[in-house]
Amino acid sequence: MEPIVLVHGGAGDIPKSRVQGKLRGVRQAAQIGHYVLNQTLSVLDAVEAAVKHMELDADFNAGYGSVLTTEKTVEMEASVMDGKTLKAGCITGVIDIMHPITAARRVMEKTPHNFLGFHGANNFVRQQGFEILKSNALVTDQAMDALENWKEEQKSGNLKFAKTEIGHKKDERGDTVGAVAIDQYGNIAVATSTGGITGKLPGRIGDTPVLGGGTYCDNRYGGVSTTGHGETIMKACLAHDIVKRIDYLGEDAQTATEIACKNMTDRFLGTGGAITIDNKGKVGVSFTSRRMAWAYQKLNMMHYGIEKDDHFEQIVEQSEVESLIAGKST
Ligand code: GLY
Repeated sequence: MEPIVLVHGGAGDIPKSRVQGKLRGVRQAAQIGHYVLNQTLSVLDAVEAAVKHMELDADFNAGYGSVLTTEKTVEMEASVMDGKTLKAGCITGVIDIMHPITAARRVMEKTPHNFLGFHGANNFVRQQGFEILKSNALVTDQAMDALENWKEEQKSGNLKFAKTEIGHKKDERGDTVGAVAIDQYGNIAVATSTGGITGKLPGRIGDTPVLGGGTYCDNRYGGVSTTGHGETIMKACLAHDIVKRIDYLGEDAQTATEIACKNMTDRFLGTGGAITIDNKGKVGVSFTSRRMAWAYQKLNMMHYGIEKDDHFEQIVEQSEVESLIAGKST
């Protein structure tokens, strides 16, 4: 089996002005994840590295660039799952750290629990020696603008859940980042991280840190990371639904991902998307939102897209990867 690192940079009604930044970021994240997988032979290291890259990038709603609560604060959430051991780590309500995905991995590796939240989670990251940033260090101009727009829309009654031309409700607010990796032996890992949705109430928990919602992984069937409207994805148990379609129905990654996303939106109306790698090393990418940025590297080929039915391919030059890694380490 050829190793693959597949990432998404969030599903939603992404405006044209943000398309290029998202595509650049997901391609870089997939490249970094693939490089790390080659170097460390660890699918967990690969998905963590890919997600960390997007957590540093203001074009994505995770880490730096996270969207804001009604109180103009950042509350982040993340989860990680290892398909070999079925161990998982989830974290919610974390503030003032750059890498919630690393915090989720620490929950998995350093505690007897699956899930820590808010006060306890923030104490835990301090005890683990995470760098604690100044309050507001993660708040970007883009996130402030998005909150202002959201408040205007609330006042004017132009709510986000207007019917779209395809008859579904649309949601511009939910995007998230995620990664799925498989190695040559069929070991799979998944990582997902988010700031949630603009204008969420403080204390709101979305799908991203919830096992079966934002993240699910089992080497026997596959691994999934999801993105989109959290309240919808949680009710549909989207990540688990996709993995179980592979299990019970024998569907491949693409079929299971497409059908589960469509069923979710038909039933619950909110939109979203998912990325999947199944146990045979097949890739699935699907979304019911207007756009979702995704990319994966297999051998030296980068595959990527953001519009429905996009599938571009580009050879990855070794020098490109080296300069990306060198740039990261400075
Ligand atoms: N999927 C991100 C959220 O709704 O929180």
